[in-house]
Amino acid sequence: KSGEFQQMREAHELAANFYSHLLLNTVEGEKALQYLEQRGFSREHIEKYGIGWSLDDREVLSQLLQRKKYDMKEMERAGLCIMKNDGTGYFDRFRGRIMFPLHDDNGNVVGFSGRTLSTSKDEAKYLNSPETPIFEKSRLLYNFHNARLNVRKTGKVILFEGFMDTIAAERAGIMNSVAVMGTSLSDTHITKLKRIANQLIICCDGDNAGWEAAKRFANLTAQKGLDAQIALLPSKLDPDEYISTYGGESFVEKVIGNPHTYMSFILAFYKRSKNLTHENDVLQYIHEVLEELAQKVSPIERDLMLRQLSTETGVSAQALQEQFIKKV
Ligand code: UTP
Ligand code: MN
Ligand code: MN
Ligand code: MN
Ligand code: MN
Repeated sequence: KSGEFQQMREAHELAANFYSHLLLNTVEGEKALQYLEQRGFSREHIEKYGIGWSLDDREVLSQLLQRKKYDMKEMERAGLCIMKNDGTGYFDRFRGRIMFPLHDDNGNVVGFSGRTLSTSKDEAKYLNSPETPIFEKSRLLYNFHNARLNVRKTGKVILFEGFMDTIAAERAGIMNSVAVMGTSLSDTHITKLKRIANQLIICCDGDNAGWEAAKRFANLTAQKGLDAQIALLPSKLDPDEYISTYGGESFVEKVIGNPHTYMSFILAFYKRSKNLTHENDVLQYIHEVLEELAQKVSPIERDLMLRQLSTETGVSAQALQEQFIKKV
């Protein structure tokens, strides 16, 4: 079994080198390279993260693997190739995409995420490796192997929802960030983070999905005994877009340097789509925050939150307290 996994890892290493060569040294890779440069990627970062390009060709990687005598059934199980319908051979899973290698905790390439250059909605923006014996989405944190030492040194880790944000954060000098592959955070992810950090900053996208994800992540980590702070982004930007717009320094100071406690995040969360000069919105806001408070136990937090709520809404703390008691 471990021999089989070794083959899969080797094939991924080979594929990553191949994709990287295509991006950096061939005419076919030029468009992708330009795209990356436009997005602020330096040559150094492209190389550090092993980014590449998969040709828009049906079987160039499969042929390479075959020439190198890899067992093609296994390459299919590794997620690199797909058997043709008529069973006469294999074609490549990834075609015409910018290739981001995914590394396990020891730095081995175990999968890929491929980004399309097209802006059409018909096509998934990212195509990921399937679950394989060496790649489990619910275990892998992007950049964990790079960030681990820095996290241990500072005790602090920053969690993003997209790996592009992790790469952008490095432009801002942030070397202790990881990303989940999308919007689910598993118990295994949290256990891993807890083992190396005692402080977690969650920094999700500023869109609605991102706010929801941040709330979910904060609840999940708190349940596992890792209290998080939440960094907020203005006006629907994601961290990468923020850094491109306002610069790394501003990101470090204003966003990461100014994280919210769970409590203050919750107030911002329920306030964000409301206009507190409208009575209806005020009532709805109070209702939602009290509901949230009913699930929290700490009397100190509750007291602080009720007082802030009172300041914001002009409703007396005593009335809020009474309303809260009625609820629970
Ligand atoms: P986002 O849609 O926020 O992507 O998804 P992004 O990181 O901002 O990417 P750019 O800047 O548009 O290139 C966050 C994460 O969700 C997963 C990816 O892992 C991505 O990093 N995702 C997203 C997919 O797996 N497939 C998709 O089609 C979209
Ligand atoms: Mn997003
Ligand atoms: Mn995003
Ligand atoms: Mn983005
Ligand atoms: Mn309700």
